[in-house]
Amino acid sequence: MADNKCPVHGNDMPFDEEYWHAPFDTYAQFHEQGPIHRVCLPDGIPVWLVTGYTEVYDALRDQRLARQRKYAGADYTNQLPPEGLAQSRLVMEDPPEHTATRRLVNFGFVPRRMRLLKPKIHELVDELLDDIEVKGANGAVVDLMDVFCAPLPITVVCDLIGVPEEERGHIREWGELVFSGKLVNPQGIGEAMARALVARRTNPVDDLLSVWAEVKDDDGNLLPPEDLSHFAIIMFAAGYDSTMGMLSCSSIALMQRPEYAARLANADDDELHKLMEEMFRMYSPTQRGFRRFAREDLEIAGRRISAGDTVLLSIGAADRDPGKFPDANELDFDRSENKHLVFGRGPHACPGAELARIENGVALQRLFQRFPNLRLAVPAEELQWRESTLIRLPLSLPVTIS
Ligand code: HEM
Repeated sequence: MADNKCPVHGNDMPFDEEYWHAPFDTYAQFHEQGPIHRVCLPDGIPVWLVTGYTEVYDALRDQRLARQRKYAGADYTNQLPPEGLAQSRLVMEDPPEHTATRRLVNFGFVPRRMRLLKPKIHELVDELLDDIEVKGANGAVVDLMDVFCAPLPITVVCDLIGVPEEERGHIREWGELVFSGKLVNPQGIGEAMARALVARRTNPVDDLLSVWAEVKDDDGNLLPPEDLSHFAIIMFAAGYDSTMGMLSCSSIALMQRPEYAARLANADDDELHKLMEEMFRMYSPTQRGFRRFAREDLEIAGRRISAGDTVLLSIGAADRDPGKFPDANELDFDRSENKHLVFGRGPHACPGAELARIENGVALQRLFQRFPNLRLAVPAEELQWRESTLIRLPLSLPVTIS
């Protein structure tokens, strides 16, 4: 961890070039120092970073840590979306409002819908792999982000929600700008979603927008298009970016460990589920949960957190805590206990966990069945990584298939 200090607050600033490339080395140093740390983000905002497994596990359910901006102290100055959006819901709500919103979102993930999605995901994966076979013929280098890791989750989540075909072209670019903190106004996409929603009210189909279009609030009113288009935006940001990161980080690891790739490629359904849990623990791109603010003074691991302080729960660090997982930085497909926190827990736990398990399992297994000789076309150290403390992924992933 480089020895950078925040010029304003004097705290360590661990999120630097070294971290973007190898966050797990930084976490190993944090684990040596303790379970909670006072640090500054790259934009100088001071935060408590919780890295210990037990502390992250408990804090994920701690209702004294709130999402609503009104609980933030004056030192939390971030105005980037979704912070500044007037109608921000779901990720920016706390119970009981969050509970009602979450019920609407959960409609999208009922087992029946998941069962219907599975064969579609198989089909889509196979189409993408056919395309890769053509583009990667004769040793040609292809960018796995462009041909696989991005288009698969974008299509899956857009189908699930019902994002119109004509709006899908900009989604990856839009997501990249939002997640690297460069997009200030994503309203264009919100307006497109609102238009699609109005269309569903006259012509419903089997997607989430159609379900939401019919929902009424406690007073019997249909929900306003602005609210619902906002859910859609959160859903596809949460749903595709995370999976794009998971597919890319996992592919890099498996390309470097052909014997693990072969075991995953040949696994039956039960075995695949077990192997994927370890892949999630090791290579989940979600480095931390969404920011939380202390509603009142409280203590975590003996450190005093004041009301208004910002708290970041580092899921990436917790899942590699050597106090919880023996040989935490080793990929171990035979790990007997694997209670990772990849999908969070408590009221904001990931509603898409089952979909993510299906989608990533099918995609990685088929990828390495079809291309057992898939390899990086550049040394791993040369890959460029997104500068995000939230979701980790390489900006491009040059590979060869034979
Ligand atoms: C590898 C894949 C994924 C990972 C690792 C992941 C991880 C997470 C985590 C850790 C949270 C909770 C964050 C917190 O409490 O601060 C979360 C929330 C969420 N995830 Fe996922 N997710 C994945 C895929 C998906 C998919 C496929 C969808 C939907 C299509 C989705 C939709 C959401 C939504 C809407 C939330 C916000 C829930 C709320 O605030 O109530 N995720 N995810």
